Amino acid sequence: MIKKAVIPAAGLGTRFLPATKAQPKEMLPIIDTPTIQYVVQECVDSGIEDILIISGKGKRSIEDHFDRNYELESRLSEQEDEALYNQLRYIDSMANIHFIRQKELNGLGDAIYHARFHCGNEPFAVLLGDSVNSSIIPVTQQLIDAYEQYHQPVLGVERVPHEKVSRYGIVGGNKLNDHILQLTQLVEKPAPAQAPSDYAIAGRYILTPQIFSALERTPRGKGNEIQLTDALRLLLTQEPIVASIIEGKRYDMGNKLDFLKTTVEFALKRPDFAAPFESFLRETINKIDEAKSE
Ligand code: UTP
Repeated sequence: MIKKAVIPAAGLGTRFLPATKAQPKEMLPIIDTPTIQYVVQECVDSGIEDILIISGKGKRSIEDHFDRNYELESRLSEQEDEALYNQLRYIDSMANIHFIRQKELNGLGDAIYHARFHCGNEPFAVLLGDSVNSSIIPVTQQLIDAYEQYHQPVLGVERVPHEKVSRYGIVGGNKLNDHILQLTQLVEKPAPAQAPSDYAIAGRYILTPQIFSALERTPRGKGNEIQLTDALRLLLTQEPIVASIIEGKRYDMGNKLDFLKTTVEFALKRPDFAAPFESFLRETINKIDEAKSE
């Protein structure tokens, strides 16, 4: 049983400046809901209710978001806006959320290392705080299912265009079935010709406590930071790891174009926006086409 999750959310978010100068990228909304709330919801939907968020400088609004706001609550009660009141109360009761601060930004591996006392001897899920998924079965649940079958660390992977493999951590291995690979290789940002596959690590993991000793032995890598992928590569020399090809679509909210695409796709799925938003999109495309044909 996986009962705990770690959500690293301390990073600087330089790819989304200037929006992230004074606010966490994990709080950027998809329509009206902060990205990290979707991530916490994925945990809850996967049966996890104990969550450690790795926080840091400038990230206090994440704590506030999952706390109660009595002033707002009483205003909504006065206005008898029960639906919004309930929505607000739901957020602070979603899960048991703990916070720890990463005081120096030494990379994703270092962020995960901050979870060692919280996770103790148990396997745990890791969900990057700036990426969300749309899927039938929650992606973290898919990885938990794989962990329960193989009892090995599980990396969530997705197929990426071959020419873009050099942007990702790429896995190589032998297929055990349609959606599980037994890993033999882990390569960070390979040139397309050197990539062992087109499967990229996709922001979701199930890790075992052995990752902490691997992190202790991992030297600083790219960007002079402790990289989780480097620690996993070290771990792979000592114990087996599987990758689970995730069913669903991942949205990386840390880059601007993906943020825009996510907003459009999610708005088209929202019953309260879908129809007027679709009309707006069609009108916009028509105007673009007309302008081009002039
Ligand atoms: P990213 O590499 O996308 O985060 O890490 P970043 O460093 O903020 O991004 P850019 O490149 O500057 O835009 C993925 C997740 O890991 C967290 C981030 O907050 C993000 O949710 N992270 C990253 C940490 O918690 N600590 C770190 O030292 C680095």
